[in-house]
Amino acid sequence: MTASLPTRFTQLLGIEHPVMQDGMGSGSFTTGDIAAAVSAAGGLGSVSTADLWAEPAKAERVFRGQMELVASRTDKPFAANIPIGVDHSGDVIGASTNHLNYVIQARREDPALERQLRVVTTSGGPPDQFRAVIRDAGLLHFHKVGSTRQALRAERAGVDLIIASGFEMGGHTHSKPVHTFVLGPNVTEAVEVPVLISGGVRDARGLAAALCFGADGVAMGTRFIATEESNWHPAIVARVLEAKEGDDTLFPGIYGPIRGLRNEAVRLLQKLIDEGATPEEITEWKAAAFRRVQDEGDVHLGLFPTGQVASGITEVVRIPDLVSGMVSGAAAILARLAGPRPVS
Ligand SMILES: Cc1cc2nc3c(=O)[nH]c(=O)nc-3n(C[C@H](O)[C@H](O)[C@H](O)COP(=O)(O)O)c2cc1C
Repeated sequence: MTASLPTRFTQLLGIEHPVMQDGMGSGSFTTGDIAAAVSAAGGLGSVSTADLWAEPAKAERVFRGQMELVASRTDKPFAANIPIGVDHSGDVIGASTNHLNYVIQARREDPALERQLRVVTTSGGPPDQFRAVIRDAGLLHFHKVGSTRQALRAERAGVDLIIASGFEMGGHTHSKPVHTFVLGPNVTEAVEVPVLISGGVRDARGLAAALCFGADGVAMGTRFIATEESNWHPAIVARVLEAKEGDDTLFPGIYGPIRGLRNEAVRLLQKLIDEGATPEEITEWKAAAFRRVQDEGDVHLGLFPTGQVASGITEVVRIPDLVSGMVSGAAAILARLAGPRPVS
């Protein structure tokens, strides 16, 4: 029997395990398959905004399709992740507001989605401007931060849970580098709302550490790429499994730096920037490079985000085994540490 580690996070949603799969959107990736498996396994899965540059009708079809896929595979709760940062023009990109509307509309039209799609996770910029809409739609609002200051601001805005994500995370990371081991305890000390730790977590030890930080669970991204349920291109999965410490780098994203694996695409992007390309040209180039990796499996000329934790991921696992193994393993670690310690 799987151990149980109830926390304020599991109680908030009535789920079994304090393990979340956080949003992973970029290019033509989708996370519906992963999200369904994580929620079915007792954690919390998230659907992600696929291609922020896609034309709205296509973006809505893909996003709604992911929500429906999850609801068709499990009757457990799940989340939708929507980045809300500002781009180079200083405005929240239209796709963010659109995606929030897709969620609200889909829940109005589909009772299964209304029941199960319980959370919107925002990230990339302050949650204030979206807070009322999310609350009034009857959704829980989780918000991802990279600093204690941002955590306090999110709490003041009234969010229900904070995801504290350290600089080693994959995807859009933060402009000021505060790593998980420092950020986690700082944030749990500073705020009253439940906290999930994110950035660099891949197994039971990470979950046990998060609970020791005073957090209510973990939110992972990169670990879920190398799972049997992941529909990501096999070349990406293979590259994640091969990744060594130091293979990751930062490159300019929409809202700030993105952490991904260093390759020819990152070099070409930097060259384009150095040669004075306009923001629009750069955005267009990046959008194509993000699609290329999933569509063609080109891990050299495609851009793809991954966290430093890829260096510790060496095998493809089944999501139910991963989630239950993390919980059993963390419970065993905490029980062992609480017992008498052998002195040598
Ligand atoms: C491929 C990829 C895409 C990501 N896209 C998003 C996104 O669209 N929105 C978001 O809030 N975070 C995004 N992230 C960050 C994750 O939600 C999560 O915070 C991060 O992966 C945690 O760090 P880890 O990779 O060490 O587990 C992405 C991460 C990866 C690896």
